[in-house]
Amino acid sequence: MTILVTGGAGFIGSNFVMDWLEATSEPVVTLDKLTYAGNLENLSGAASFGDRHVFVQGDIADSALVERLFSEHRFRAVINFAAESHVDRSIHGPEDFIQTNIVGTFRMLEVVRAYWNALDGEEKSRFRFLHVSTDEVYGSLDQGAAPFTESHRYEPNSPYSASKAASDHLVRAYHHTYGMPVLTTNCSNNYGPYHFPEKLIPLVIHNALSNATLPIYGDGQQIRDWLYVKDHCSAIRLVLEAGRCGDVYNVGGWNEKTNLEVVKTICAILDELAPRTDGKSFADQINFVTDRPGHDRRYAIDASKLERELGWRPAETFETGIRKTIKWYLENEGWVRNVTSGAYRDWLGHNYGIRK
Ligand code: NAD
Ligand code: TYD
Repeated sequence: MTILVTGGAGFIGSNFVMDWLEATSEPVVTLDKLTYAGNLENLSGAASFGDRHVFVQGDIADSALVERLFSEHRFRAVINFAAESHVDRSIHGPEDFIQTNIVGTFRMLEVVRAYWNALDGEEKSRFRFLHVSTDEVYGSLDQGAAPFTESHRYEPNSPYSASKAASDHLVRAYHHTYGMPVLTTNCSNNYGPYHFPEKLIPLVIHNALSNATLPIYGDGQQIRDWLYVKDHCSAIRLVLEAGRCGDVYNVGGWNEKTNLEVVKTICAILDELAPRTDGKSFADQINFVTDRPGHDRRYAIDASKLERELGWRPAETFETGIRKTIKWYLENEGWVRNVTSGAYRDWLGHNYGIRK
């Protein structure tokens, strides 16, 4: 009874692996390529679970490796987090997104199909492939429009969301055509511990504390629907356990905020917890910069199916979750220092150097 978690050294994957180790007694194998976004330090807590956790460095597109892992461990489920996940990077260079998100997911599905076909009895009926996806596949919502339901049409606008949409379609087709026991979750924006500081929330916390500017794309009135990462993990555990095969579940926290509101909230909490020595507010560091090309204006998730059918509810509000997150960053300066050296600086130059 072992599960395979792909991308488990990244932000959400590592939170999921740690939650799984704490909440269940099942072993986990983490398969992660350790790209710039993957970090073994995120899984340092797994060591205390001994041989219940095994880490394997490798690519989900490496079919021979994935086949070998399946024959060694006889997984009862796969949770597929592995992906290139940053919209701005997908704009600068989409190729890796096509390779991992589309080709990688396809190769995983092929290995899983052969493995699952060869199973029988309870092993076969119990097996699940859970694909972790995003609300960004649904495109951008107008102000006042109803939040995305599971039947909202796919209208991905960035190379990132288009590649995730393609992977979702493949997962769906493997259920429809081959009867494979798949589940898909489409979640809104996550935040919390171990979030790589290229994304808005950790970037703003890190820049504020480093005395750098807080870059806001365009007018800062774009809306995202924020969910604390541990709530995403609890939703995935529940869908894995009780979700209907072939179904899609939207996951979200009913927390729509403009980017400017998010940044101002972070500044206000930092003013309280770690005030600037000159007595000024961190909000003085806000700087409006050139917008992201094709920037989606609004995302909002209708999570009522998951609540109604499986009884899921987020434990955190944005106010409680963001405070926990900021405290985590204040207490884990060493982690931040390690992930913001070297290549991270090159990315900042690449992404922000061109913005006025
Ligand atoms: P992340 O970028 O922090 O982590 C991705 C992980 O995948 C990294 O550890 C990386 O090394 C690994 N990886 C990349 N390519 C790989 C490959 N070819 N083979 C094996 N491992 C590979 O991303 P995240 O924010 O943790 O997102 C995880 C998943 O959740 C993604 O599929 C993403 O689309 C989805 N998602 C993210 C959010 C969000 O707000 N971050 C919201 C909804 C859905
Ligand atoms: P991000 O964290 O990259 O997530 P996503 O694009 O997947 O939603 O960005 C969240 C929002 O914050 C998005 O509207 C873009 C915006 N943003 C900024 O305004 N400035 C920044 O420096 C970054 C990274 C993002």
